[in-house]
Amino acid sequence: MSARILVLGGGGREHAIVKALARSPQSPELFCAPGNPGIATDATCLPDLDPVDPAAVTAKAVELGIDLIAVGPEAPLVAGVVDALSEAGIAAFGPSGAAAQLEGSKSYAKQAMEEAGVPTAGYAVVTDRESALAKVAETGCPVVLKADGLAAGKGVLICLDEEEAREAIEVFFTEQRFGQTEVVVEEFLEGEELSLLAICDGERAIPLAPAQDYKRIGEGDTGPNTGGMGSYSPVQTVSSDRLAELSATVHQPIVDLMAKRGHPFHGVLYAGLMMTADGPKVLEYNTRFGDPETQAVLPRLESDLVELFFAAAKPGGLAEIEVSFADQFAVTVVLASAGYPASSSKGDVITGLEEAARLAEVVHAGTAEQNGEIVTAGGRVLNLTGVGPDAATARDRAYDAADAVNFDGKQMRRDIAERAVRRERDQDSK
Ligand code: AMP
Ligand code: GLY
Repeated sequence: MSARILVLGGGGREHAIVKALARSPQSPELFCAPGNPGIATDATCLPDLDPVDPAAVTAKAVELGIDLIAVGPEAPLVAGVVDALSEAGIAAFGPSGAAAQLEGSKSYAKQAMEEAGVPTAGYAVVTDRESALAKVAETGCPVVLKADGLAAGKGVLICLDEEEAREAIEVFFTEQRFGQTEVVVEEFLEGEELSLLAICDGERAIPLAPAQDYKRIGEGDTGPNTGGMGSYSPVQTVSSDRLAELSATVHQPIVDLMAKRGHPFHGVLYAGLMMTADGPKVLEYNTRFGDPETQAVLPRLESDLVELFFAAAKPGGLAEIEVSFADQFAVTVVLASAGYPASSSKGDVITGLEEAARLAEVVHAGTAEQNGEIVTAGGRVLNLTGVGPDAATARDRAYDAADAVNFDGKQMRRDIAERAVRRERDQDSK
């Protein structure tokens, strides 16, 4: 009998996960909660199940005879969904609530990095205005201030000078925009960012293909931060030897530490790295797949994702497993709705999806079905992933698909993977 797998979440990352699971030779039966209209073509969606409610998720898993639950976003992890499932004896791909503190609390993560000997920016944790001001003066500018808890990527303020730092301190401690929170004051790092994800079984970390994402709304990395406007994989500067070395530096020591603490880490450990002149430093950990990195990484995966998920759920389950990726490039372009990221627009009719699907992998991020038509329903609407033998081909395929899709107010960046294409040209001309 084929395995029954329930994916929690309903965005582009979850659609990419569902599609990768559907490619498994094991032909699993797939469910997704809540899912979206795109996911509904690849899995049975459960729009009424709240992924952040551990008791409801467990009850639904029992009712449907689910063999494994794979958690997409961070909120269900921090809410303890995996803890509830393991009490009920249901396998889960994702860390316990305690292990998810690596993402849920920036001060927990910094302390863990310090104890595990992982390179990261110098920091201090402050709890009030005065100590924040003193710490900023001591660190010097630019300086980075981060709210301790989950803030959907909005809790990080980069301050170029003392005036901006003073304003940021008011945002945290007077306005309390992120509630009552501890604040991490961190040294500003310069370099190229890299997303390095590893799949973990409580004992070991196996790195996935490296990726880069584009966080700002505007071309040339300008304008406000977003959930991510595009991504690509692999990253030419990271050879397979270098990948193993990086993973041994930023993933394995944390997996070892969490095991020692009695909170073994299962699932995806995502290290956001800054490649500085002094070597790689970890900016943050996420305890789940990255969005939109996953959309560019999973289409290249040659291994069976169903097998990987079940193996990672078991202590030491990955011992005999190798993870392999196709020697191809993948580029993901995000289409966003009018007003994003300050706001988003709903109900604009989307056309050209069939044509796009002939050119690239189309995953739905924020869509809805209305009177038989697919319409926008969020900030990030669709992700188009082009795959090809080189970066330029993959990029062209993604943009041909992005151009085939239309809706009022469509926004996209035109420079996704430009860096990879340039590196490829430089290499070819040598
Ligand atoms: P985080 O959520 O901690 O990854 O921060 C979000 C983004 O802010 C990162 O992807 C970086 O672009 C930037 N950032 C965070 N910390 C630093 C730092 N110490 N130095 C420079 N940029 C940073
Ligand atoms: N791409 C950044 C994230 O998933 O947090």
